[in-house]
Amino acid sequence: MRHVLMVLILTAALSACASVDRPTPVPLSPAAERGQQFVLRACAGCHAVASGGASPNAVAPAFASIRMRHTAISLERSLAEIAREGHGEMPPIYMTSAEMADIVAYIESVEPAAEAPPSRGSGPRYAAVDTRR
Ligand code: HEC
Repeated sequence: MRHVLMVLILTAALSACASVDRPTPVPLSPAAERGQQFVLRACAGCHAVASGGASPNAVAPAFASIRMRHTAISLERSLAEIAREGHGEMPPIYMTSAEMADIVAYIESVEPAAEAPPSRGSGPRYAAVDTRR
């Protein structure tokens, strides 16, 4: 009897999960949503943080183009460096690792720029391709 009850409860719980509706238009994950709040506050003064448009600071790449050039891992590294020592013209910005993870989730959700931006030549951007046979 106990077992039957457990099975019933589990089945009910599972079907409840399956029927949770996601908001249709722009389904940002909770992490990406927190990241969006952070970047609107801390980054949007210089960077275009949404999918389209030019950056207020012409030197600051749009997040859509950053999205093109970075994997989640290289982005996390880049953010960690920015938190410590800034980046070129960009001042250091204090971010916790949880905030960085949220920002990465947000940037990953940004529609990538239609065309590749000019290379700025700092470090490897793409994985090396082995052309040996
Ligand atoms: C005061 C203006 C300013 C603010 C505020 C700012 N940035 Fe930047 N950011 C820049 C500039 C300028 C560059 C380009 C620096 C360079 O390439 O030498 C840059 C570069 C970057 C890069 C490197 C892009 C690449 O080519 O790899 C990342 C990532 C980045 N910013 C993320 C952020 C995030 C996340 C925030 C908010 C937490 C932020 N920035 C806030 C001005 C700013």
